[in-house]
Amino acid sequence: MTISFDRAANFYDNTRTLSPEVSERLTAEILRLGRATPDTTFFEPGIGTGRVALPIVERGYVYTGVDVSEAMMDKLRQKLEGKAHRLTLINADATALPLEDNSFDVAVAPHILHLIADWQTAMDELRRVLKPSGVFIYFHHPNNKTASRDAIGRQWREILSSYGYASGFTGGVTEDVLGRLREQGAELETVVVAELSRESTVDSLMKAYRDRIYSHMWRVPDDIYHRAMVELEAWVAGEFPDPNQPVTSQDNITITAAYHWPD
Ligand SMILES: C[S@@+](CC[C@H](N)C(=O)[O-])C[C@H]1O[C@@H](n2cnc3c(N)ncnc32)[C@H](O)[C@@H]1O
Repeated sequence: MTISFDRAANFYDNTRTLSPEVSERLTAEILRLGRATPDTTFFEPGIGTGRVALPIVERGYVYTGVDVSEAMMDKLRQKLEGKAHRLTLINADATALPLEDNSFDVAVAPHILHLIADWQTAMDELRRVLKPSGVFIYFHHPNNKTASRDAIGRQWREILSSYGYASGFTGGVTEDVLGRLREQGAELETVVVAELSRESTVDSLMKAYRDRIYSHMWRVPDDIYHRAMVELEAWVAGEFPDPNQPVTSQDNITITAAYHWPD
């Protein structure tokens, strides 16, 4: 099963954006962990709108990205219109890459493996296209299986489970991916890039549920989703009568580099 982000192309950047400071720190850490020189070549499966790739591409690196969503990659193409760059975009599935073995120095996989049911095959493909001396850089936040960072999210999970529906991600989350890398004998280095404290309101969080902006909301069958929303709205009205009440969620961006990842 593949989760294309075609439906999110028009709102992805508005809802998943990183602040310029966090983006700058993230880019610097990727370049440091990837031991980048001007000749370093990068690869990213699920490149999307280039949230992570664009600052690296803009620094002049050779970068190849694949995605199953042409609409997401079009957003990235628009950002680079009229600019010189060395980015190649390919419409392909991360589990079957139309790329040669041993092609890249650094493979970056942010926010992708949790979407792919067969995430192990996607990792094998990443390993295959990475040079033996290459570095694999992984991250995904939230760093948990459930995607619930706040009380409303936890209540949402409970309501869904009362309908017999397990919310959460289809693919591999951080503990799965790092566990597999360790089992395979890779050497890992993990750094915290940023602590994210997000301030929103009850109303804006509820709007995210109504608009189904996150991918874990897309897989819930429509009839269950609508019934669960009625229950969630009622619970929220009781628990948080003021729609402007602030809701804080804590999260961090932790990235891991894998070195000497054996075949
Ligand atoms: C959550 S977005 C992440 C985009 C980017 N890596 C980032 O961090 O902003 C996931 C992207 O992966 C793509 N995707 C999902 N499953 C895929 C697959 N099996 N192969 C390639 N791309 C995939 C989606 O279309 C989407 O653009």
